[in-house]
Amino acid sequence: MRIAVAGTGYVGLSVALLLSQHNDIRALDIVPEKVEMLQRGVSPIRDAEIERFLEHRDEMGLSFEATADAAEAYGEAEYVVVACPTNYDTDTNSFDTSAVEAAMDAAREVNPDAWIVVKSTIPVGYTERIREERGDNKIIFSPEFLREGHALYDNLHPSRIVVGAPRDDADAVAAAERFAALLEEGAAPEERSRRNADGTAGIPRLVLGCTEAEAVKLFANTYLALRVSYFNELDTYCATKGLSTKDVIRGVSLDPRIGDFYDNPSFGYGGYCLPKDTRQLLANYRDVPQNLIQAIVDSNSTRKDFIADEVLKRVNGLVYESVPKPLVGVYRLTMKSGSDNFRASSIQGIMKRVKAKGVPVLVYEPTYRGDEFFGSEVTADLASFKSRADVIVANRWSDDLADVEGKVYTRDLFGRD
Ligand SMILES: NC(=O)c1ccc[n+]([C@@H]2O[C@H](COP(=O)([O-])OP(=O)(O)OC[C@H]3O[C@@H](n4cnc5c(N)ncnc54)[C@H](O)[C@@H]3O)[C@@H](O)[C@H]2O)c1
Repeated sequence: MRIAVAGTGYVGLSVALLLSQHNDIRALDIVPEKVEMLQRGVSPIRDAEIERFLEHRDEMGLSFEATADAAEAYGEAEYVVVACPTNYDTDTNSFDTSAVEAAMDAAREVNPDAWIVVKSTIPVGYTERIREERGDNKIIFSPEFLREGHALYDNLHPSRIVVGAPRDDADAVAAAERFAALLEEGAAPEERSRRNADGTAGIPRLVLGCTEAEAVKLFANTYLALRVSYFNELDTYCATKGLSTKDVIRGVSLDPRIGDFYDNPSFGYGGYCLPKDTRQLLANYRDVPQNLIQAIVDSNSTRKDFIADEVLKRVNGLVYESVPKPLVGVYRLTMKSGSDNFRASSIQGIMKRVKAKGVPVLVYEPTYRGDEFFGSEVTADLASFKSRADVIVANRWSDDLADVEGKVYTRDLFGRD
């Protein structure tokens, strides 16, 4: 089956390659450099499985072509998967869905019949609204749950497959079922026979109303943000009162209802999705009573204020010890270890706060192309970074820093993301 994918970022590229095992894929991007890299079999993003699939696409028998030509991409497609960005717009207090709509327009110009599957994260209620506004009944939604850096891995080993279609539209529900089956067909064979914790076998597959499917995505990410915020506030308490955070988390997380995972303190939740998705859910609560969703959004700024104050205390301590103008070193702009992506990473919030107090910052980020990041010098020379910085802040610990441990400020207590 011919399937087109609009957008070759984390979501689009991983879904395109997953589906290219059993379908004929045309992937389109509006950035010519990305298309050109993909045509050469080079991944524009760092992701082990994506790189492996692209490198071995012939041996693996994948049918994957990248193109910048809309007619070539969308013309013959039965499904058009839209994986364009939906950044949060602080003026409208909602996601900016214009890139999703631009892709729909481009697809419809050459193909009035394809099923459009929105894979981008969208506001709750968007699919129903856009179907009505455009008079287009062939739009459905499938939330994406991948993690950056493990994008294709997570699609090969999905926790669940969710597709949303209006319940009263039998054709759309059937198209959603077929799309769910395509995603399942692409998953690793062992996943289709796996045993789940609830005793069921295979990959849980849910075909829901589209508004419910949209809610699943935003509530799932907001829960993850809540969990990060919870352990971060636990750490803020322990650090302020002189308790061992590590011991408290261990004792708390041994309760199997809580679990010892996703509980490592950090500088705040960040990355492309959690900050914007929590805000979008809060915006969706406009006419609905709530306290918690607002608190999850606010908690992240409070945590960054706390971390920045802790860094500034160390800086002031050095001034007291007669280092006239201490230099703060930011070790990596990325959110997670092993990542090359620093969209909305929490360390940037720390950097901004520290710089606002007039303290100079030097950044070590080997994946950054350029010598300045928001007015601060960037270096890829680790040895000079370590010798020049007086205080080093690291959202995630790295053995790179072992020889300057005394300078390092981190809240990474368990050495995991
Ligand atoms: N990154 C994640 O971990 C993740 C996980 C789940 C869901 N999502 C959601 O998926 C969507 C995409 O996220 P991403 O991380 O893949 O974004 P991304 O920025 O990595 O990739 C988006 C791609 O779309 C391209 N694009 C923009 N406008 C286009 C158009 N009109 N036609 C074709 N291509 C176009 C961009 O050039 C870019 O390459 C967002 O809504 C995001 O919230 C992301």
